[in-house]
Amino acid sequence: MTYRMGKKWSFFKEAVKNIRTTGAIASSSPALAKRLVAALPADRPVNIVELGPGDGSITHAILERIHPGSKVTAFEINPSFVAELANIGDDRLEVLAVGAERLTEYFAPGSVDFVISSLPLSMIPQEVKEEILRQTRIVLGATGQFRQYQYALQDYSLLKDYFHRVSVSYTLANLPPAFVYSCMMGG
Ligand SMILES: C[S@@+](CC[C@H](N)C(=O)[O-])C[C@H]1O[C@@H](n2cnc3c(N)ncnc32)[C@H](O)[C@@H]1O
Repeated sequence: MTYRMGKKWSFFKEAVKNIRTTGAIASSSPALAKRLVAALPADRPVNIVELGPGDGSITHAILERIHPGSKVTAFEINPSFVAELANIGDDRLEVLAVGAERLTEYFAPGSVDFVISSLPLSMIPQEVKEEILRQTRIVLGATGQFRQYQYALQDYSLLKDYFHRVSVSYTLANLPPAFVYSCMMGG
């Protein structure tokens, strides 16, 4: 089995074991990852939080794109994925075995520039999801940006309740095709 096939197989096994928290049976395509990280600057250091990195398909795309002085803090609740992410071995990345609903325990208001999320929003209980969005808004402050993908627009109106500016794009180059939300308070 090739390395890439092996990654796909281990993601699939984790997804089957934990379908309610994983929310997908395959990791994101390189095209979706590229779109999700497209707003990250490469020419200056920024503070990035990743929510739900899973096996690291988005994490790798983030690390490939960003400035050497940027920092990425990833929040992941599945211990198997946490162990896999620990092998990435990039000094800019810190992996926390902590739920996204604890963001404000780790970051001061307005201290994060980007939150990049692949959380399975539609499967997360409403009160937990709203707590994650509330805390995301706090740590991002007025100028930070929240980017999230979803396979249908189930949470579009909820995101508009939490952020003043919400735009959506779409990529067919993923199975299934996906919407990418970009959300800000101001800017
Ligand atoms: C659809 S997978 C995304 C994996 C990968 N980032 C991708 O896009 O292919 C969702 C991930 O979110 C994680 N997750 C679910 N609820 C979470 C929470 N409350 N806090 C942090 N991670 C969570 C799951 O364990 C899983 O790894």
